[in-house]
Amino acid sequence: MANNNKKYVELIWADKYDRFEKGEKMPIERPNLPFQVVETINKPRIKDLESGLFDPEKVYPETEYPPNYPKDWKNLLIWGDNKLVMSSLLKQGWAGKINLIYIDPPFFTGADFTVRTKIGDEEIEKEPSIIEERAYKDTWSGGIASYLKYMYERLVLMRELLAENGSIYVHLDWHVGHYVKLMMDEIFGYENFRNEVVWRYGKIASSTNKFLCNHDVLLFYTKTANAIFNPQVTKLDKPIKRLARTVKDGRLVNVKDEKGNLVYVEKWEKLIDDVWDDIPIVMHANPEFLDFGTQKPELLIKRIIETSSNPGDIVADFFCGSGTTLAVAEKLGRRWIGCDLSKFAIQVTRKRLLDIHNSKDLMEDAK
Ligand SMILES: C[S@@+](CC[C@H](N)C(=O)[O-])C[C@H]1O[C@@H](n2cnc3c(N)ncnc32)[C@H](O)[C@@H]1O
Repeated sequence: MANNNKKYVELIWADKYDRFEKGEKMPIERPNLPFQVVETINKPRIKDLESGLFDPEKVYPETEYPPNYPKDWKNLLIWGDNKLVMSSLLKQGWAGKINLIYIDPPFFTGADFTVRTKIGDEEIEKEPSIIEERAYKDTWSGGIASYLKYMYERLVLMRELLAENGSIYVHLDWHVGHYVKLMMDEIFGYENFRNEVVWRYGKIASSTNKFLCNHDVLLFYTKTANAIFNPQVTKLDKPIKRLARTVKDGRLVNVKDEKGNLVYVEKWEKLIDDVWDDIPIVMHANPEFLDFGTQKPELLIKRIIETSSNPGDIVADFFCGSGTTLAVAEKLGRRWIGCDLSKFAIQVTRKRLLDIHNSKDLMEDAK
């Protein structure tokens, strides 16, 4: 859109402003459809579970119950295209209600809609359904331009759903990370960009004509300057020596001894920075592995949820896949909303969430 500010920068793709040229007032279409809610997880359909397996009161005993978790809350697992799901959520009063959004959308590799799975010991590839195929065409048929349109529409809706103290993490890699960064600067504001986190997953493979690609990126933005941020620390094997510091008159100053010398202290932990190389990819040997092609590790999501939300807050993942975000949110006492286009993904997620309570697999130091 024409902008007279000489410092203005924006990313343009084919048809970005088509709707305005056709006289529409909004940059994206906003339908309001009834949900295909697969499960309001804390109100299970199955008879055996009617005693309230997902009843928060049963999951969190009286003393540990998150204070911010209304007793009549129902987590939502919705089957459908997230554009329709989010515009319907907005129409139904969810604007400004979600504290944290993590998404792991397709990365423009073109391989995201065929799911590998297992029946017994046999590995099969599940073909995409008709809605998946249609969404696939809408997303990829115009190359990178249609992918950018697809992401833009969804990110605009996500910003509206975020609470004032809310954060969003978008998980990408080298294919489109740079395009989406520019787009997020436009939607969320350059000033609300917090970090580009590098997740180095430590793949072991070979590469002949370029360096081996061994990291994804997490683009982390907040809705405002007042977002929740709980700094995370990691334990060290050996202590490191650091200058002792203290706050004086609102400023951080070095501590000195009686003779005026600087004082050193030994630290056994350090703040987590923007390179995460301590979390491996999920593989066969790991009990959380569900053989879902693009499944992400629970530890990765745990770090994000603990940093950018508090117990009882609402966490959403609109590309939930095998349900990693929802499972971790559940284990950490957060409320959650999840959605996926693929019925298979919804089935995997549903089973995973029910299994948490069957196995009492609540995360260590969680609740
Ligand atoms: C990379 S996977 C997510 C994996 C997930 N983070 C996990 O740990 O299992 C992306 C998911 O987005 C879903 N998806 C793609 N386009 C979608 C859309 N328009 N609406 C909803 N889900 C979509 C796909 O079906 C797929 O399950």
